Amino acid sequence: MKSLKTNLDLNPVYPPSDTIQKRAYISSLDEYLKMYNASIEDPVQFWENISAQFFWKSKPAGRFLSYNFDLQKGPIFVKWMEGASTNICYNLVDKHVQDGYGNKVAYYWEGNEPSEQKQITYQALLQAICKCANVLKSLGITKGDRVAIYMPTTIEAIVVMLSCARIGAIHTVIFAGFSADALAERMIAAKAKLLITADGTFRGTKFIPLKSIATQALIQCKAADHPLHHCIVFNRLQTIKQPSNIPDIPWDDSMDHSWEALIASASDVCEPEWVDAEDPLFILYTSGSTGKPKGVVHTGGGYLLYAATAFKYAFDYHPEDIFFCSGDLGWITGHTFNVYGALACRSTSVIFDGIPTYPDGGRFWDLIDRYKVTTFYTAPTAIRTLMKLESSYVTKHNRTSLRILGSVGEPIDPSTWTWLYEVVGAKRCPIIDTFWQTETGAPIICPLPGFTPLKPGSATLPFWGIVPTIVDDHGVDIIGEGKGHLVIKNPWPGMARTIDGHHQRFQSTYFEPYNGYYYTGDSAKRDADGYFWITGRTDDMLNRSGHLISTAEIESTLMQHPSVAEAAAVSASHAIKGESIHCFIVLKNGWLYNQMIDSEIKSIVRNKLGAFAAPDLVYPVPALPKVGSGKIMRRLLRKIVRQEVHFGDTSTLVDQNIIDWLRILTLHKVKIS
Ligand code: WT7
Repeated sequence: MKSLKTNLDLNPVYPPSDTIQKRAYISSLDEYLKMYNASIEDPVQFWENISAQFFWKSKPAGRFLSYNFDLQKGPIFVKWMEGASTNICYNLVDKHVQDGYGNKVAYYWEGNEPSEQKQITYQALLQAICKCANVLKSLGITKGDRVAIYMPTTIEAIVVMLSCARIGAIHTVIFAGFSADALAERMIAAKAKLLITADGTFRGTKFIPLKSIATQALIQCKAADHPLHHCIVFNRLQTIKQPSNIPDIPWDDSMDHSWEALIASASDVCEPEWVDAEDPLFILYTSGSTGKPKGVVHTGGGYLLYAATAFKYAFDYHPEDIFFCSGDLGWITGHTFNVYGALACRSTSVIFDGIPTYPDGGRFWDLIDRYKVTTFYTAPTAIRTLMKLESSYVTKHNRTSLRILGSVGEPIDPSTWTWLYEVVGAKRCPIIDTFWQTETGAPIICPLPGFTPLKPGSATLPFWGIVPTIVDDHGVDIIGEGKGHLVIKNPWPGMARTIDGHHQRFQSTYFEPYNGYYYTGDSAKRDADGYFWITGRTDDMLNRSGHLISTAEIESTLMQHPSVAEAAAVSASHAIKGESIHCFIVLKNGWLYNQMIDSEIKSIVRNKLGAFAAPDLVYPVPALPKVGSGKIMRRLLRKIVRQEVHFGDTSTLVDQNIIDWLRILTLHKVKIS
């Protein structure tokens, strides 16, 4: 870290602007180091101080932190504040109302149609949560029961999450883009007792029949001997102006309940259930590249501390800010930054149940102007989609309320970074590239707006309490500059505690590879300034003539060609080179692929990365296969270029049709290569 001051001038960096710096909680390297060092030298003291901001019914019974990261010594475990009792919903909502902020808006909601708008204050949120909690109780849900939520991004979905938390039930939110199979698989795995869904929603002009999908999934649950007895259905479609587009909604009187009817007769008083800091708060499924989805378990106490602290510092959030995270509630981003971390900081947030290109490609910027958003957090994939369009979609909105821009989900390549910085932020707003995972609870490597000099493409430096390092294949620490596997050496409050029902898998996935460290599954390089650059999932590495290359490096180079809007690189085996490199690109609007572009693209990679990294084949395709959170399913592309026909579990893929399309498009070229 000491080298930071001396080495910066070797790289292009963007220091924070005076305006951002002036208001910031952390505005200098010394302030950063003071907090960071305190957090790693005495983590217990550090997090104990932070815990004082929240309400605890009783203190930890024993130690504030106990853990074992060493498999030789026994099972892996991490416990923060065990024995302390609290209620996260009480801390997020009741406390603010008691402190006199009941009239503050907690959420502005906007649906797919710009005319669909709602807002809710902290006071009204509390009442809605209490009503919903009483409904859950009336259907027999008690502490420790699992409740499945398959709802679009709505205030009501947040109300359900928090009412589960209020009564000590464990929610599992299943992204409302998943198929019936994927929903059933997760409900069965979680042993869910109740499902809460909605009649349907729209994504642009496409109707998503949520209740029909839920009904199919419930039939599957029954067939698998896991019958659910109740399904609550929220009437999401009530604000749609043209109900004529909407097909009939299936209804089974013996188990389906109308949300509106149940809520109308419920009491708005509900005492919170005081639960242990180490009791599970939620399970969130994340797909492993092989095997069944992993039910990542987070507990209430430590997650509260970490989510709140990350929200406050990563976005330099002050209660007068308006935060807008475009992520769906079904991902950890939605849990931490649309719900738990945000409300803990008494935020006002915008949540959006729509897509960035409907009614036109200016929707995000329109939302930002209308709600005076100060902090906008999104994913590189969304940015790349919007970069394809004329920049006038951005510039016709004034965006002057914006102060901070954030990115999450995958490496943000420098071209996308620069577009976000220059076009969207008009060079005024720092880009906060937050590296984290479902398992980490909140960002673990990220810049801080008022201090960190930014380098496009780097997630920069560790957050409070995180000791990251990179190790080689044998688990040996790489000191200073280098490339390797990204691991975390120490426990932090927001980390996952287990994989639901599969603690063995938790140990073998995260702790066995480099015994004693938490393994992220990502590779990264550390530069001379100590900055971390995430280069993608380790299983996305290519081995070309003995050189290991990350897909992120190739893709970020492909993005430098003016015609390329999105790119994905994978390998197939090659008799001579070991692996041949296949690149899929989506062109920006108005470009046509031809021989010249093909050779330009190949030579950009050859020139910037070296001949060994040059693509063997480039396929222009209409779209890339993506999972709901926007990540590219490279595993599928790899199978396609290898002409395999068994694709494994593709239930998380947003558009199933794309598989056949890509197979057709690649068929001819693969044969001649
Ligand atoms: C994986 C975790 C964290 C919320 C959304 C994803 C990749 C995430 C970054 C970033 C480079 C990133 C990693 C990570 N990733 N953020 N800023 N730079 N890569 O949660 O579905 O659990 O995925 O997303 O590969 O391991 P997730």
